[in-house]
Amino acid sequence: MNNYVCITGGTKGIGKAVASCLAQAGYPLLLTYASDEEAAEKAREELENQYGIKVLTLKADSTDKASIELVGQFLETNDILLDAMVFNAGITCRDPFEQMSLEEWERVFFANVHYPVFLLQRIVGRIRKGGSVVFTGSLMGVQPHSVSLAYGTTKSAVHALVRNLVKHLVPYDIRVNGVAPGFVDTEWQKTKPAEIRRNIENKISLNRFCEPEELAEVYRMLIENKYMNGEVIVVDGGYSYK
Ligand SMILES: NC(=O)c1ccc[n+]([C@@H]2O[C@H](COP(=O)([O-])OP(=O)(O)OC[C@H]3O[C@@H](n4cnc5c(N)ncnc54)[C@H](OP(=O)(O)O)[C@@H]3O)[C@@H](O)[C@H]2O)c1
Repeated sequence: MNNYVCITGGTKGIGKAVASCLAQAGYPLLLTYASDEEAAEKAREELENQYGIKVLTLKADSTDKASIELVGQFLETNDILLDAMVFNAGITCRDPFEQMSLEEWERVFFANVHYPVFLLQRIVGRIRKGGSVVFTGSLMGVQPHSVSLAYGTTKSAVHALVRNLVKHLVPYDIRVNGVAPGFVDTEWQKTKPAEIRRNIENKISLNRFCEPEELAEVYRMLIENKYMNGEVIVVDGGYSYK
């Protein structure tokens, strides 16, 4: 058996920062992504060259049901046992409430909630005893003011999922936790207009976005601390206190 940590959406942004942080600590990695093969290959090369660990990448779109079986098969074919599974990939839909379609609503729910649940069901036997699962939630799942109704609602569901899963993972000796990031300076945020970014910064006590690397340390702590279980850690720079 080969021990790895799997990170969905691990080739860019928060997932990539978590990958770097874990690579630095010597964990071999399996990183999934949706479509950008070039970025995935670049991330793989960078991490392997910089940290001398093994990195595998796998195209597995979390909006596609078939990719659940794809990941399951990949772990079996490569005889992979996971030290940790990080469900990080997430999508949004910014259509206004009045224009939102049932199809888009279902797409966001499938990717953010259904996919991790059924992927976990498929691969739970491939997570080692004493290992853990970490979900990426969102501050928008705690303070309901996301522009996207589907996004905020699914991230609340992710937080509920973390707590509800604890009991179901006890027989496997697997812990489960979540991180609820505030505003993290990834492509997701960088594409927002300057004025909107300033408005966001003005609402954060630390007056700035979170660096992905600062957030990544929290994931590592959740993976390595053997007593953390059923927690969703909000990392928002003091957003609630300004
Ligand atoms: N950035 C923030 O401020 C913030 C705040 C709170 C929560 N979050 C959450 O953090 C997670 C990552 O966000 P990010 O800001 O790091 O995003 P990002 O910088 O856009 O990174 C996206 C990564 O996820 C992959 N990905 C995107 N859609 C996917 C899909 N359908 N299936 C599989 N992989 C997919 C991308 O692969 P490709 O390159 O191939 O598309 C890429 O590896 C999301 O769950 C998001 O909701 C972000």
